Amino acid sequence: MLQESQDIIADMVENGRIEHIFSTPVFSYVLKSVGALNGEIRDLVLERERTTPSMVKSNQGGWQSSPDFFEWGGPVVATLEHHLRSAVKIATARLLGAPNVRIDCHLYGWAAVNRHGHYNTPHVHPLATWSGVYYVDAGDEAPDTPGAALEFAHPVVASAMTFFPGALPSARLVRPETGMIILFPSYLQHNVRMYQGTRPRISVPFNAQLRSVSI
Ligand SMILES: [Fe+2]
Repeated sequence: MLQESQDIIADMVENGRIEHIFSTPVFSYVLKSVGALNGEIRDLVLERERTTPSMVKSNQGGWQSSPDFFEWGGPVVATLEHHLRSAVKIATARLLGAPNVRIDCHLYGWAAVNRHGHYNTPHVHPLATWSGVYYVDAGDEAPDTPGAALEFAHPVVASAMTFFPGALPSARLVRPETGMIILFPSYLQHNVRMYQGTRPRISVPFNAQLRSVSI
């Protein structure tokens, strides 16, 4: 009996498994050689900021356009929309394991300008599939600055305080880079920490509502 019990324990030590289930897909890619594109978009956004009142959403300070960025017109807006639609398609293909996936999605976005001291409170993006951000200019914050990152909360919020605090991550920080596209499920709660730089941080957050997917 004792030997049998020891054998069971030894086998459990050897073969017992912990499987991490319910993972969260987050896609990121940094566009290269887009200095000219970003410069033109930055000028467009700052001009719009000068002439249009801010929407008030999750932004604490800062300026946010209405969600019509992709309707502003012109070649640079069309180019960025094309890149972001490509990211949505590639991320969906990777997620579904279907390289030739065809998707029909409604993409809408807005421009955002965060200056020193501005931040965004925790929120989700209702009624979308993928949400994302494109960084036109990540700003000039020093790399060792504690804040200013995009912060994702663990999707099971209570896990951080009830299940081995510290053993599981309670949040994941992403430090923005100019040219970065990041995509995440729209249900994933996130916030933006307070920006400490001096050059305005300019981004285009967006939502992709998938109407149909065929693989
Ligand atoms: Fe957001």
